Amino acid sequence: MSETLQLYFKALSGIAELLAGESDFQSTMEAILVRLAKLTGMKRGMISLYRRDLEQIHVDITYGIPDTSEPIYYRLGEGITGRVVAIGRPIAIPRLDREPLFLDRSGARRRIDRSTLAFLCVPIKFAGQTVGALSVDRAAKGADLSGELAFLEVVANLLAPRVHARRVQEENTRLKEAIGRHGPLGTVVGNANSMRRVAEQIDQVAQTMTTVLITGETGTGKGLVASEIHYRSPRSDKPMIRLDCGAIPENLVESEIFGHVRGAFTGAIENRIGKFELARGGTIFLDEIGELPLASQVKLLRVLEEREFERVGGGKTIKTDARVIIATNRDLEKEVAAGRFRSDLYYRLSVFPIHLPPLRERGADIILLADYFVQKLGDKMGCKITRIDSSALDMLISYHWPGNVRELQNCLERAIVLATDGIIHGYHLPPSLQMATAADETGAGGEKGADFQAMVRAYETTLIVEALKKTRGNQTKAARLLGTTKRIIQYKISTYGINYRKYSGVKV
Ligand SMILES: Nc1ncnc2c1ncn2[C@@H]1O[C@H](COP(=O)(O)OP(=O)(O)OP(=O)(O)O)[C@@H](O)[C@H]1O
Ligand SMILES: [Mg+2]
Repeated sequence: MSETLQLYFKALSGIAELLAGESDFQSTMEAILVRLAKLTGMKRGMISLYRRDLEQIHVDITYGIPDTSEPIYYRLGEGITGRVVAIGRPIAIPRLDREPLFLDRSGARRRIDRSTLAFLCVPIKFAGQTVGALSVDRAAKGADLSGELAFLEVVANLLAPRVHARRVQEENTRLKEAIGRHGPLGTVVGNANSMRRVAEQIDQVAQTMTTVLITGETGTGKGLVASEIHYRSPRSDKPMIRLDCGAIPENLVESEIFGHVRGAFTGAIENRIGKFELARGGTIFLDEIGELPLASQVKLLRVLEEREFERVGGGKTIKTDARVIIATNRDLEKEVAAGRFRSDLYYRLSVFPIHLPPLRERGADIILLADYFVQKLGDKMGCKITRIDSSALDMLISYHWPGNVRELQNCLERAIVLATDGIIHGYHLPPSLQMATAADETGAGGEKGADFQAMVRAYETTLIVEALKKTRGNQTKAARLLGTTKRIIQYKISTYGINYRKYSGVKV
């Protein structure tokens, strides 16, 4: 075996060993670069991550490059590293001084004679996707570049799973930061792919004037997403004006939206400014647009297309620069088919649709949201909740959540009130949820008998626990409160395994 090959083998086995160790990403990767430098004559090395969320390549780990206070990054296609990630193929440069694309963004080679340096960069691929790049420079003299590229590609393959994991972790951190930053304004919590897509769409559209149509079942967060878009837009310091089209009588909707002039109709005793005028420079949020009468739909279409309108009964044309966000829990396509919604307005609104999936289709987001609400509401209500026990988690996951996130939130708010030991137990959740797990246990569909019993049990447990809290664990008083006998209460307490002693010190 040639001497070079021997060194490569030695380097590879060393790298494999480091990767199998328990050190964190940073130390492992640094140690790998050090090993490469020692064994292969590499002078400098960098491991970069391709961040999909930012569309940038971030230099994450370096060797032989002085620390810079600013992070080093490339856009996709920018510089050699950016190009390698963009095309997914390695690039070797025999002499750096002859390569105009080379940016030296780290500044490490500013005082070095670049004619003496060769540069090699290979993509790091995981599951067919480029997740980052590995680049090294070495002395130009005597380099077998194609051999070294092949070697580095093997190294990159070894690193790939860890680099991929690191990238996902970084992306999540950013997601959390973004959530934290916008915390007080309402936060769209979610990690399911469908919700990440929603977050991306919010990012894409917030800075623009585009009209947005938000759809989704009741309680899926349409209102929250609308305000998120407003608060992330350049108009965030201007008002966001909301109008629930379903909450106003049909004959007054137009006047609410566009305003009216005195005498426009019976009862119009003075001029009135509509929501579009109030939203000047800001955002108008028309909620439940499916409820808007056909006649008013024409007027709305005109505002969207021409950005002008008249007050009801008025002749003067008013210009508007308000950004429009629309929401509905109806299926507008069906409404169009049924002749209740104008198709031209529907098409105009569908330019940028954001669909919020029902909670039952968001997988582990149920737990994520439950944790979030327990923290948030617990803090607000002054109850520290440390965890949700596994029976409660099972119930939360099996339930079909017809009321979506709002229902989850209400459910936990109630559970927090009931919880006494800082833990949310299954019996703190409403009967409808107990039914879901009971159905699960009895197989698809579930036996109705089991559902019913589980419901009764859960309901009784809740009632008894509440009564015990009020009476500080006194069973006789609890029985009286519930209008039953002590014997029955004792029986239920023992069959349901309720620990009444724990309520003896509870203040209500
Ligand atoms: N992804 C989420 N992260 C955090 N909170 C959420 C999320 N989605 C919804 N919520 C909360 O759930 C509640 C219901 O959301 P929202 O009012 O936005 O739903 P909606 O789709 O507008 O419902 P409706 O169709 O009944 O008007 C709100 O308190 C909202 O803050
Ligand atoms: Mg709403």
